Amino acid sequence: MIRLPWNLLEAVAGSRNPRPGGRRGGVRPAGTTWYRLGKPAPQEIRPARPGAGPREFAACGTGCGSPQVMASRGQGDMAAPREAEIRKAVQTYYGQVLKKSADLQTSACVTAARLVPKHIREALRNVHEEVSSRYYGCGLVIPECLENCWILDLGSGSGRDCYVLSQLVGETGHVTGIDMTESQVEVAKKYIEYHMEKYGFQTPNVTFLHGYLENLEETGIKNESYDIVISNCVINLVPNKQAVLQEAYQVLKHGGELYFSDVYANLELPEEIRTHRILWGECLGGALYWKDLAVLAQKIGFCTPRLVTANLITVQNKELERVIGDCRFVSATFRLFKLPKTGPAERCQVIYNGGITGHEKELIFDANFTFKEGEIVEVDEETAAILKNSRFAQNFLIRPIGEKLPACSVSSALGSKGIITDPFKLAGESDDVKPRCSSDVAGGCCP
Ligand SMILES: C[S@@+](CC[C@H](N)C(=O)[O-])C[C@H]1O[C@@H](n2cnc3c(N)ncnc32)[C@H](O)[C@@H]1O
Repeated sequence: MIRLPWNLLEAVAGSRNPRPGGRRGGVRPAGTTWYRLGKPAPQEIRPARPGAGPREFAACGTGCGSPQVMASRGQGDMAAPREAEIRKAVQTYYGQVLKKSADLQTSACVTAARLVPKHIREALRNVHEEVSSRYYGCGLVIPECLENCWILDLGSGSGRDCYVLSQLVGETGHVTGIDMTESQVEVAKKYIEYHMEKYGFQTPNVTFLHGYLENLEETGIKNESYDIVISNCVINLVPNKQAVLQEAYQVLKHGGELYFSDVYANLELPEEIRTHRILWGECLGGALYWKDLAVLAQKIGFCTPRLVTANLITVQNKELERVIGDCRFVSATFRLFKLPKTGPAERCQVIYNGGITGHEKELIFDANFTFKEGEIVEVDEETAAILKNSRFAQNFLIRPIGEKLPACSVSSALGSKGIITDPFKLAGESDDVKPRCSSDVAGGCCP
């Protein structure tokens, strides 16, 4: 559940009146008119550009129901006026207004504490307090089987997820964080030595870069150089979502995956929401219609998105509720695999051999597949191809259906219940059973 953070509303749009009894986040962007939400409609916001209506960005393009294909890498570097304007507002908010996660005053705790494995809880506890206190994510983006992996974090902020992953990939792995907000990158860089010493690493295995997700090449990131790309509550803030997904695809090795948490809508958002600068800043106006993720993924060449977790977001602000109307939002984690183009795949039976750190007995791969050590599971063609061609291959015995697998005590086939792809359905199913996270475990709130 997300309670809208007053200070972001104040930051992006300004506030005439301080929130009653509330904390003020920081500086006011120059030239904005200040008002407080919850009062009558915020008509006083200065138009975004000459000709734009009050409280509006210019009309949205890619990733807002009308995705366009970016022809090649690097086209995202020349930010269109609207994109530049959004970037500036986002940079001001994350660079100057927010000082710590608690300033958000949200309850977007989307990760069930009881599902966080012990080794990740321990890794989270090792992260420096200043880094953790500036965490603004909306999910847990720590996949499995990480030893020696090269990982890229898109929109790494102060670097909390990078430092957790840096421990889990080990000294022979590497983590790169990239973010466009300089002060966040500075905080992240400040603690490299602290963490390396804490982990007992001779050579730092983490690098932080200042740059834009829409053009990774510009920052010196090479094609096909990462095993995993992660991102935590960032892509909703980028107008050109296709450019970001395309860039992620380009820099992934074959068999690699994009594992990311973000905010999604239950429909193609109407223009009133897409162009509402407060809702954009709130991570809602830029939310992708969840079905569009599969469309974008297919266009770019990723496999079908694999839904991992989902939690409903609720908005507790009368004025914004009115604008939002019947639209609903969910925070969800998906995994998108980039597979080598090989021949036709076939349905298979697979056995998990165990052995993945922290998931020795059971590997919860996504909302549909849980692999228990030694158990036969029948999987569809694409899941078989993913397991065969990714870093998980070494942990599975995989045979086409018909070929005999070694005798096992339990046999389990993909049941008739069907594959869950809708995060709203999953959130509806799981919302009541998941406890709210505790800040020392997964933390994380989406502004
Ligand atoms: C909600 S914060 C999440 C930060 C971090 N992932 C975390 O979990 O703490 C969003 C981050 O995305 C960054 N960001 C947004 N748009 C970006 C873009 N186009 N290029 C690079 N960074 C961007 C912002 O600077 C901000 O640090």
